[in-house]
Amino acid sequence: MYTILQKDNIVGHKKFLKQKNMKNNTNEESGYFDEMSKNWDQNSMRNQIALNAARTMHKYITLSKNSVMLDFGCGTGLVSFYFYPHLQRLEGVDSSKGMVDEFNKKAAAENFVNAGAKVFDLDRDQLTDNTYDVIVSSMVFHHIKDPQALLKHLYDSLKNGGSLAIADLDEEDGSFHPPEAEGVHHNGFSRNLVKTWFEESGYKNIQLSTVMQLEKESGKYSIFLCVGKK
Ligand SMILES: C[S@@+](CC[C@H](N)C(=O)[O-])C[C@H]1O[C@@H](n2cnc3c(N)ncnc32)[C@H](O)[C@@H]1O
Repeated sequence: MYTILQKDNIVGHKKFLKQKNMKNNTNEESGYFDEMSKNWDQNSMRNQIALNAARTMHKYITLSKNSVMLDFGCGTGLVSFYFYPHLQRLEGVDSSKGMVDEFNKKAAAENFVNAGAKVFDLDRDQLTDNTYDVIVSSMVFHHIKDPQALLKHLYDSLKNGGSLAIADLDEEDGSFHPPEAEGVHHNGFSRNLVKTWFEESGYKNIQLSTVMQLEKESGKYSIFLCVGKK
């Protein structure tokens, strides 16, 4: 069953394009997401994807009151705030300062005292080893330059027995993002390839499932979830 989605993200994209023409942005990728962050939560497609991703992840990961979670490419927290009541601590990382500010504003408004995000570029910066019980991420993997290297990096930052849950697009023809979108390094992924990368990085008990299928004006797409354990 395909969920039909609205084209209500067009305002943010158009605004970004206008501003891009007005100033010479030196870091276009995070500039794009900085601009998008202001209206990120007002887009029904993103909310639906995030909610479906979080619900599907919840079927495959075990959480306790002692769990420390990392959400990478956390955006405004649409995915990981869902888990907050089940956690000891929630950390978000994102390369966009605009996204990080929105995440922290929402955490403060909800009085989520043990949740916080910081600016962090996963293509460049180093996470601490053996730190997280669970790492989640939704719709970020296709923005990562070297996803295979990142899987190894995340493996090191998990505690023994910890889980990684990644939701992202199945292989598509490149039409999912509008042409002006920045930092799209992959047109989705083959599930078999992702599974192989998980195996090669050391993950065990690898499980693949479908988060949702969706339809936009540009075509039909689906989103997978891949979960593995350290
Ligand atoms: C499509 S958004 C998804 C945001 C959020 N996970 C959600 O589901 O609403 C992709 C996010 O990944 C972040 N991102 C892209 N490349 C990144 C990198 N190299 N390191 C950290 N964050 C990155 C962007 O800033 C953006 O917030």
